Amino acid sequence: MLFLASDHAGFALKERLTAHLRKKGVAFKDLGTHSEDSVDYPDFAFALGQHVAKSPENRGIGICGTGIGICMAANKIPGIRAAMVYSLETAKLARQHNDANVACFGGRTQKPADVVKWMDAFLSTPPDSAKRHHRRAEKVTRAQPR
Ligand code: RB5
Repeated sequence: MLFLASDHAGFALKERLTAHLRKKGVAFKDLGTHSEDSVDYPDFAFALGQHVAKSPENRGIGICGTGIGICMAANKIPGIRAAMVYSLETAKLARQHNDANVACFGGRTQKPADVVKWMDAFLSTPPDSAKRHHRRAEKVTRAQPR
């Protein structure tokens, strides 16, 4: 399953992304927030991380003003490899080299039309099969204490 979460600064971009996913017929769950009323991004990052970490097949999209705070907080959840995505290339490499399961975007710093393309690339790119990438991603996962 694909999960999306944002704070108030990412709400408008999340709305744009969910509209795009609906149009494409992609199933997802929107974990909030559901308005531009001020909230704390760690609360939404932790909910996102906890949902995504339940299955290796799950993916997440996290959005705050810059993408930075929600990325930092999501990475505190064991099993989460959240990546700050800022181009088509980083969207693909986050999957190919890092096996990232969460992509983070900035609602105040990135153009929605770009983010739509980057999200699609993130969701459709498989991890590179080279053993070195798998080994490195596993080391990152093992470093997160339970
Ligand atoms: C909220 O004003 C803003 O600080 C937050 O969305 C985010 O950018 C933090 O990293």
